Amino acid sequence: MKTLVAFYSLDGNTKSIAEAIAEALGDADILEIKPKKELTSSFLKYFWGGRQAFMKEKPELLPLEKNANDYDIIFVGTPVWSWTVSPPIRSFISQAKLKGKKIALFCCYEGNPGKTFEEMKKNA
Ligand SMILES: Cc1cc2nc3c(=O)[nH]c(=O)nc-3n(C[C@H](O)[C@H](O)[C@H](O)COP(=O)(O)O)c2cc1C
Repeated sequence: MKTLVAFYSLDGNTKSIAEAIAEALGDADILEIKPKKELTSSFLKYFWGGRQAFMKEKPELLPLEKNANDYDIIFVGTPVWSWTVSPPIRSFISQAKLKGKKIALFCCYEGNPGKTFEEMKKNA
């Protein structure tokens, strides 16, 4: 069984969890998903990122270094933005062919995960 741990992380929390999962699994590959245009400002990220998430935007991604099709089990991790999935992971879920795969979801948040997992399932 081939396993992929795919994630997006702006500030590093989701990345740490993704790396811990991959390490615990032992033989999993890891895929960091990055938007072509990343948020830069540490203060304005809440405004622009929150708006993107609220508007359910699907930003263009940098080319993916791994193909989800090559894996049987895919972990998908996201930070929670505006009580939902982060825009880069919304893009990834829509474009990767995840139907029929075994999927495990994880997220990082500060207090309220909102409908993150429901939204991730809906977009798969
Ligand atoms: C644009 C933006 C929106 C956020 N919205 C929420 C939210 O709705 N609920 C919550 O609990 N945390 C929210 N957070 C906090 C992040 O989910 C939290 O800091 C997370 O650990 C960040 O993960 P990362 O370090 O992988 O980027 C938000 C953070 C940002 C930047």
